Amino acid sequence: MQAHDFRPGNGKPRMYETVKSIHVGTVVLTILGFMLRGYWMMTGSPRLDFRVTKIAPHVIDTVLLVSGVALIVILKLPLMSQKWLLMKFAALVAYILLGAIALGRGKSMRARTTAFVFSLAVFAYIVGVALTKSTVGWIVFL
Ligand code: HEM
Repeated sequence: MQAHDFRPGNGKPRMYETVKSIHVGTVVLTILGFMLRGYWMMTGSPRLDFRVTKIAPHVIDTVLLVSGVALIVILKLPLMSQKWLLMKFAALVAYILLGAIALGRGKSMRARTTAFVFSLAVFAYIVGVALTKSTVGWIVFL
């Protein structure tokens, strides 16, 4: 994990820990919700069309995004020089597009299921990039 240089007494470490906990908490919620919706998609469950199923992910993902931006601000991360962060954004766009295909836009079950599996792989990559702060993600451990 990356060490952060917080001066004592400025209150930032606690703020950082709180926001990071919110961020990681919403990461867990978003993937659990996505997996559940993927299961409902594959089993043809009507729950996929429930109002709460459509609204809850937006609420969770907004908190995920806002907490991510807040972490950038708290850590004063210079965006353009943080390659891992830029890669995370690119992968996030791929995850959103694949997720949209998986949970609705895909024309056939095969297309939706394939997109769902790729979405999970991209999500795993994003987590790897976040934890290692490297664009190659989990591969640094090999
Ligand atoms: C699917 C989307 C996302 C996933 C799976 C994800 C995952 C994670 C994880 C697991 C961590 C904790 C890393 C650690 O413990 O060191 C983290 C930290 C972080 N994330 Fe995200 N994140 C996502 C979206 C975002 C977004 C949209 C932003 C920015 C707008 C963002 C910015 C950050 C920052 C700045 C950190 C703190 C890094 C540090 O402590 O040094 N994340 N993310």
